[in-house]
Amino acid sequence: MSFTLPELPYSYDALTPYMSRETLEYHHDKHHQAYVTNGNNLLKGTEFEGKSLEEIVTGSYGKNAGLFNNAGQHFNHMHFWHWMKPNGGGAIPGELEKKIVEDLGSVEKMKEDFIQAGVTQFGSGWNWLAVKDGKIVVMKTPNGESPLVHGATPILGCDVWEHSYYIDYRNRRPDYLKAFVENLVNWEYVAELYSKAV
Ligand SMILES: [Fe+2]
Repeated sequence: MSFTLPELPYSYDALTPYMSRETLEYHHDKHHQAYVTNGNNLLKGTEFEGKSLEEIVTGSYGKNAGLFNNAGQHFNHMHFWHWMKPNGGGAIPGELEKKIVEDLGSVEKMKEDFIQAGVTQFGSGWNWLAVKDGKIVVMKTPNGESPLVHGATPILGCDVWEHSYYIDYRNRRPDYLKAFVENLVNWEYVAELYSKAV
């Protein structure tokens, strides 16, 4: 398969004031497009041609850094657009909420730990909720990595590369993470990924 840039699942203005049109234009049209273009160029002629995106990500990790970085970021961003929605951050679907409370203490504790993981990811990367060995865990990864390459299944991720927040929040990464959790997260999509992961 080759990589294709997906359309955003909402308009460029849909996430204001928490994420602006300008951010989405740069982030989706320029940054994600670059991962797709570079990934396709680096995929050509490798053993990974014809594999699924997940197989390319896990297979190239530690073996082909250029391909991995671009394929990993393509995978992360494919989900990232769906991890947000207008008027997001509301109630968590029941079964998922129950599991969060069971594994992470409470919804409030989960939000705190998730934000803290993003704040403490040094430099570019992502913070996550993932399913590992049947449990929901909080993780953080550098650059284009994801829980996929650490034996876990990502169900929610927040992009803490500066390109995701610098236009709207400048250096205030904690404010961006708080807005993401409180006003942007599409918990129905998280629940859908959770149900597939268990
Ligand atoms: Fe990004």
